[in-house]
Amino acid sequence: MKNIKKLKVSIVMGSQSDYKTMKLATKILKSLAVKFETKIISAHRTPNRMFKYANSVDRNSIGVIIAGAGGSAHLPGMISALTTIPVLGVPIESKKLKGLDSLLSIAQMPKGIPVGTLAIGEDGAINAALLAASILANSNPVIKKKLKSWRLSQTKSVKKNPKL
Ligand code: RP5
Repeated sequence: MKNIKKLKVSIVMGSQSDYKTMKLATKILKSLAVKFETKIISAHRTPNRMFKYANSVDRNSIGVIIAGAGGSAHLPGMISALTTIPVLGVPIESKKLKGLDSLLSIAQMPKGIPVGTLAIGEDGAINAALLAASILANSNPVIKKKLKSWRLSQTKSVKKNPKL
């Protein structure tokens, strides 16, 4: 049986070019002291790597998967089809359609295989990390405490009056 306090987040992305977006998820997880790994896995360029990865997550102490992909972004859905570990999809902003293609590909999963879909691009990467931490925080009071203080400092950073 898994030690739920040792569960980590697995961040996967379809290409090296996705890293400039997905690194924001790594920064958030670092600031919350949540353990994570990062991997490049492409559903269409490295299909065997994807199958091998998805078949190994259950025995690798992975509690949540964050999958970033752009264009015809089938990586999060394909991984979700191969494991019951929750998958959060980050639609990467694509050059031609500004990420609308990625968003619809990830959000419009037909019933039966869910992918939790975040916003396009950097906001999505940041929120995916925060949501992954929230999921792990359900069974990890240390992460819960870190998350609460992260929220508090965000609240404190909002000025009461605008600079005129
Ligand atoms: C997708 O194709 C990747 O997730 C990436 O967002 C997009 C473009 O990849 P590159 O051509 O930059 O490698 O598979």
